Amino acid sequence: MTARPGMHTLTRGRGLLFGGDYNPEQWPEEVWAEDAELMRAAGVNLVTIGVFSWARLEPEPGARDFGWLDRVMELMAGAGIAVDLATPTASPPPWLGHRWPETLPVDESGHRLWYGSRNQFCPSSPVYRERALAIVTDLADRYAGHPALALWHVGNEYGQICHCDASAAAFRAWLHDAYGDLDTLNEAWGTTFWSQRYSEWAEILTPRRAPYMINPTQQLDWQRFCSDALLAHYRAERDVLRERTPDVPITTNFMGLFKPVDSWSWAGEEDIVSNDCYPDPEDPLSPARTALTHDLMRGLGQGRPWLLMEQSTSAVNWRAHNLPKPPGQFRLESLQALARGADGLCYFQWRASRFGAERFHAAMVPHAGPDTRLHAEVRAHGQELRALASVAGQPVPARVAMVFDWASWWALEERGRPSDRLNAADQLLAYYVPLWERGVSVDLVPPSADLSGYALVVVPNLFLVTDADAAALTDYVRGGGVLVVGPFSGIADERAHIRTGRFPAPLRAVLGASGEEWQPVAGEVLCRWNGGPEFTAHTWTEVMAAEGAEAVAVFSETGRPAVLRHRTGDGVAWYVATMPEPAALGEITARALADARVRGVLPAGARLPPGVEAVRRGEVLFLLNHGTEPVCVPIPHPAEDLLTGAVADGTVTLTPRAVVALRPHG
Ligand code: GAL
Ligand code: ZN
Repeated sequence: MTARPGMHTLTRGRGLLFGGDYNPEQWPEEVWAEDAELMRAAGVNLVTIGVFSWARLEPEPGARDFGWLDRVMELMAGAGIAVDLATPTASPPPWLGHRWPETLPVDESGHRLWYGSRNQFCPSSPVYRERALAIVTDLADRYAGHPALALWHVGNEYGQICHCDASAAAFRAWLHDAYGDLDTLNEAWGTTFWSQRYSEWAEILTPRRAPYMINPTQQLDWQRFCSDALLAHYRAERDVLRERTPDVPITTNFMGLFKPVDSWSWAGEEDIVSNDCYPDPEDPLSPARTALTHDLMRGLGQGRPWLLMEQSTSAVNWRAHNLPKPPGQFRLESLQALARGADGLCYFQWRASRFGAERFHAAMVPHAGPDTRLHAEVRAHGQELRALASVAGQPVPARVAMVFDWASWWALEERGRPSDRLNAADQLLAYYVPLWERGVSVDLVPPSADLSGYALVVVPNLFLVTDADAAALTDYVRGGGVLVVGPFSGIADERAHIRTGRFPAPLRAVLGASGEEWQPVAGEVLCRWNGGPEFTAHTWTEVMAAEGAEAVAVFSETGRPAVLRHRTGDGVAWYVATMPEPAALGEITARALADARVRGVLPAGARLPPGVEAVRRGEVLFLLNHGTEPVCVPIPHPAEDLLTGAVADGTVTLTPRAVVALRPHG
């Protein structure tokens, strides 16, 4: 087998990638030459072209107009700018929906969603598939071997779902594969409940709008199916490209922690993992939340460098109230991605649109033109990346893993649960923040990952767990690992059936503890460290009993365990039976890190000032100040800042939004 092309194929001879979505079809050709000039001056070396150009390439069914794209590709080749060429299938032309309305998606109420926007396709429509593959085939044939073609961008932000009859038929076929016969399906779905028994396959529907709550296993399988149906479409396009251009890497842009797509099952199907990331400027947790999604991208690529496909230089246009980014902010965010394993930093989009739904979205060249503060920053950033070229390809070493699983996310957040205030992504972030604050790098991993290389594994929530995954977590601890498990984990099996017996049944032995009731609470509850002060917890409590574990903290009122620590085999397992306030979760994290003998990247005993991020990539220590005050940070060794050449020893000072990239010196 020959090695697949990957990020190295792109960075070889180019260094770090810098650029963005380029939509020349929105501009007269006179503007294109200026674009190429400005791109060169800004150090742009990668542009994504054609994401939304299907109607331009195929103005009527079967017609082809590649002339304009030929000229754009030539222009880019001449300017030495690599092209990430997109298949245009995220937004079919109006003629497709007009002539073949069955290609349009249908919502759960049976309403068709029309053209006039984008994403108007049914993942299971044979006509859509056929038309999409036809244009993709011609695109690949035309540009195979073109000197500008460097990367394929399949579709855009896959996530469309459809409840039409074709989708229902595809769902039935998927279920048939999964269960083989109706009896098995009836049992898995628990259809004795509410008289839901199916007597023939044709009765089975997508979870369309119903009078009351839908069967949770039907819903869970539907989410599995929707992710798989989109993946099947992605793969069909990818296979066309791979066959024609085996040396060109292929990606599709993810949307971070995006619920509809099980990114673990997708990532292995692409050569490069890429992501779109739009931190909310109004959310104080944005820096940590963003770091978490970056770590997820690295995890999806099993540690390989990834590509930040889209971010914004300033305001987006799709929130209700769109704050601009202050000077220095997009650079800070870009370098954050770089520090966390990105080899390419791209933006949506190159030139701000004059028309269309995104005309108020920031860009690399604003409406006011290149002679602006914002474009000057774009240029300066593109230039400074050259000084960081040695970081390309470098790994971000981590001794801590956090487990996250889409099926468990889907199953947890079904309607009709004890509290809809316990959510998978929120729990993930809650457990991530104290690690981030301590400069401890984390790999995001699926529950089936090989955990043997990690000193600490954190499972913020794993509501649904398979027997095999529960056994692997148990073995990990027995073999010397340190495990932290958050509340309401280990509750359901892969069919979302509750596991009976004291909970969490499959983890009870390793945790040395078990429970019998979940008790969501209205406000806060008090907990007490064993022999120490009190702290608050909120939202959720469990009635637990220790079975070998030590109660590190108890609920003050009942005296029952709230936080448990169990030494077992050669390892240690922690269980947190509530949602502790951040400082208390920080304390639990610190103790688990001590059990695992893991330290952050700072010198022993040193603490990062609030809002400062520290992460090591290869030998380079990145420090990023997300706060609004200047800070002074102790550093572990004399170092040279790759960005300025300045040499530091002992401490470095960072003004707000400043970044240093410290390479050991001398
Ligand atoms: C992304 C999308 C882009 C653009 C951008 C605006 O979700 O891929 O096409 O819409 O958002 O922020
Ligand atoms: Zn459909």
